[in-house]
Parts: sequence; structure tokens; C-alpha cells
Amino acid sequence: YNWNFTFLKEYGSYFWTGIRLTLEVSAVAVIGGFIFGTLISLLRLSSLWLVQFIGSAYVEIIRGTPMLVQLLLFYYGLPLFAGLDIGLFGAACLTLIVNSSAYIAEIMRAGIQGVDRGQMEAARSLGMPRGMALRLIILPQAFKTVLPALGNEFVVVVKESSILSVIGFGEIIYQANAIRAATYQPLEPLLVAAAIYFVLTFTLSKLLGLGERRLRVSD
Ligand code: ARG
Repeated sequence: YNWNFTFLKEYGSYFWTGIRLTLEVSAVAVIGGFIFGTLISLLRLSSLWLVQFIGSAYVEIIRGTPMLVQLLLFYYGLPLFAGLDIGLFGAACLTLIVNSSAYIAEIMRAGIQGVDRGQMEAARSLGMPRGMALRLIILPQAFKTVLPALGNEFVVVVKESSILSVIGFGEIIYQANAIRAATYQPLEPLLVAAAIYFVLTFTLSKLLGLGERRLRVSD
């Protein structure tokens, strides 16, 4: 096989666009997924069974169905059934946020349950209302212990965003496919895409490792 990467000169900008969109949608997904996932984890920890049930049902349904199906339902289903056209970027963000939030909810639940009960009791005995104690005492400690798991989720989201190519969202795999079609080279653009993902995730986990170590110093 004659490897040929000369297409990079003409189509390199395609990949840069793909990288930008991949990073944008992943950043939105992790931030949105964290906020939404934390709220879901609180539902699951509620003492009211109905609230608890809603939280559990959400997590089980989202984790129990393929993200590909969720994506297609949001992209094609929302305009049809809800008259809501959120566009490519909207559907891409919504899918990743909804999907990731179910996984993050479980991460956060484990983190919150891992904080010693005495922390809540101490805060309450000082006169703090429950919500305030949760926000100022419990969640910050939980966040710190689950940071490695959250970082891992970030890496997963970057890789899973490749699925967004099926609706035509212009992330890295979409761009690779465009180049494959234009150059009749089925292989090389995919190898470049794989290399890009590796550089992105490897850099990301190095950065996350750095952040973790910094947090540990403050212990
Ligand atoms: N690809 C699998 C799916 O379609 C796993 C998704 C994992 N998502 C995550 N945010 N950890 O369901």
C-alpha cells in the first residue's frame, strides 16, 4: 500500500475545523452535564420516593439506551413531535449533555455518599440549613474526591462526540469522511483522525492529572 498524506496540505483546514467543533461541543457537554448531572444526583438522594424514582428512571433510561439512538431522536424527533428545531449544534450539545449527565449523576452520587455523615451533622449543629450545608460543605468535598472520575468522563465525551458525525455535525470524523470522499483515500484521513483524538485525550488526561496533584497538595 502506498501511504499518501499529501492531502493534508489541501485539507488540513478541515481537520482544524473538526478539532474546534469537537472541543467546543465537548466543553459545553462537560459543563452542562456536570450541572445537570449534579441536580439528577440530588434527586436520587432525596428522601421522597417519587423524586428518587424520577432521578433513578432518568439515569437508567439514558444509560440503558445507545447514545446514537438518543442523538437521532433529538435531531429528527424534536422537530416532529415538539415542533422544536434546535439545529445541528443544538442537537449535538443536547445529546452529549443528556447522555453525560446520567453518568455524571452516578459519579456525583457516589462522591456525595462518600462524604462522612459527620460533616452534615456538624454543619447542621452550627445552624446551617440543609441546602446551605450541601452547597458549602458536602458538594465541595464530594467534587474533590470525584475529580479523577469527572476527568475520565471528559475524555469519554471527547471520543463519544465522534458519533455526532452521523447527523452531519462537522466534528473530526465528519471532516475525515469529507476528505475520504474528496480524495478517494479511504484510510489515511481516518488515521489522521485517530492520531488527533489521541493527542487530544492524552493532553487532556495530562492536564487533569496536573490539576489533581494540585488539589492533593491543599489537603
Ligand atoms: N457509546 C455508549 C453508548 O452509546 C457509551 C456512552 C458513554 N457515555 C458517557 N457519557 N460516558 O451508550
